[in-house]
Amino acid sequence: MNSKRNATLTVGNKKYELPVLSPSAGPDAIDIRKLYSSANLFAYDPGFTSTASCQSTITFVDGEAGNLLYRGYPVEQLAKQSSFIEVCYLLLYGNLPSAEELEEFEQSVTIHTMVHDQMTNFFRGFRRDAHPMAIITGVMGAMSAFYHDSTDIRDPMQREIASIRMIAKLPTIVAMAFKYSIGQPFVFPKNRLSYAANFMRMCFKVPCESYKVQPAISRALDRIFILHADHEQNASTSTVRLAGSSGANPFACIAAGIACLWGPAHGGANEACLKMLHEIQSPDRIPEFIKRAKDPSDDFRLMGFGHRVYKNFDPRAKILKESADEILSELGDADNPILKVARELERIAVDDEYFRERRLYPNVDFYSGIILSAIGFPTAMFTPIFALSRTVGWISQWKEMIADPALKIGRPRQMYIGETGRNYDESKNP
Ligand code: ACO
Repeated sequence: MNSKRNATLTVGNKKYELPVLSPSAGPDAIDIRKLYSSANLFAYDPGFTSTASCQSTITFVDGEAGNLLYRGYPVEQLAKQSSFIEVCYLLLYGNLPSAEELEEFEQSVTIHTMVHDQMTNFFRGFRRDAHPMAIITGVMGAMSAFYHDSTDIRDPMQREIASIRMIAKLPTIVAMAFKYSIGQPFVFPKNRLSYAANFMRMCFKVPCESYKVQPAISRALDRIFILHADHEQNASTSTVRLAGSSGANPFACIAAGIACLWGPAHGGANEACLKMLHEIQSPDRIPEFIKRAKDPSDDFRLMGFGHRVYKNFDPRAKILKESADEILSELGDADNPILKVARELERIAVDDEYFRERRLYPNVDFYSGIILSAIGFPTAMFTPIFALSRTVGWISQWKEMIADPALKIGRPRQMYIGETGRNYDESKNP
């Protein structure tokens, strides 16, 4: 990227010229790559609130306007008109597929849905009440042992095979983790079903009963997958990139992303949000929880509220709010008490000065949990479903990074504020 203008940094009586780079959308960025070598200075930015870690062509988030684009397309259009598998193609290869390209891609994902049979034994090593996220993190890491022939990151073909394997097998792995955690037998994938319908069947079918996926429900799940598919350089994606920058194999990198996603400030928030809505229980208890969220001496936060980037509204939350209404009516549960609490909580919070001042609005996790729970997933499955949806985003970002000639191992610097000049002998024998 060429720079058309410079920023001047003045430190004492010295001036440093720093190139200003202009991306295709979003604020310009000051290129500080030579700051240390030319000025012997570091930039200090904990939480990377003002730092772009890479150039990317995949996803763009405009937090002020509340826009999210995948490869230039608004997520609202994709959620309404596309399918998750088509969105996977778009994120991975940069353009929407032709009908033949889509068919070929879908076919290559579909024929890789089964996992190595020995992986079943690996599952059996976990405690029977293990959280599915713990299992998925471990099993994803272990894929490098089962699929060693696609771990050479310098080979584009191996990178491609690893990518397809992860996208294809993750629904199977997530469903197996779920089945294992509830003591039910694993269900093999059924390749004639859509990506979402196949996942639902692997989760909910039991050998003694027939199971039919309701198309409206699998479509709602597919929409959740689309809305979670990528979100530029969030914590888990940055984790994947950082892990990948050392040349680690793709399965290890995605396992690192899954581990990061589990945190309650990130993907774990949907589980925490539904727990909170249940704890609130009825609309008349909302003021009590709002009061707690505003109290600086209480570490309670309204889960599903606030976002590092969206300071207006999260477009994904808007779509999911509509979806929640549709799904609960479809399931004959339009008066669902938790949905009532959620709607009322949103209404009160967005009108409250504390939340307005801090620009805290519902995020994607606020309504996704209600939908997943209505479909029949327990809260422990919310973050695994997020991981399953985000895998394509992580892979697209990882592939972009590996193919970037500017790739360098990620190695942030620090401001050391600890002791210096200590002497072992003097400390031991004062
Ligand atoms: N409830 C109450 N107060 C909040 C909330 C909340 N959910 N979120 C932020 N605040 C307050 C903070 O206390 C702080 O107030 P102060 O200025 O008086 O100290 C102010 O808003 C700014 O908060 P930060 O933590 O600095 O904002 P940041 O951008 O670092 O955090 C985050 C964003 C982590 C998402 C935060 O809003 C949060 O914890 N939300 C709840 C968890 C959640 O829903 N996470 C899901 C995020 S979306 C995703 O990962 C897919």
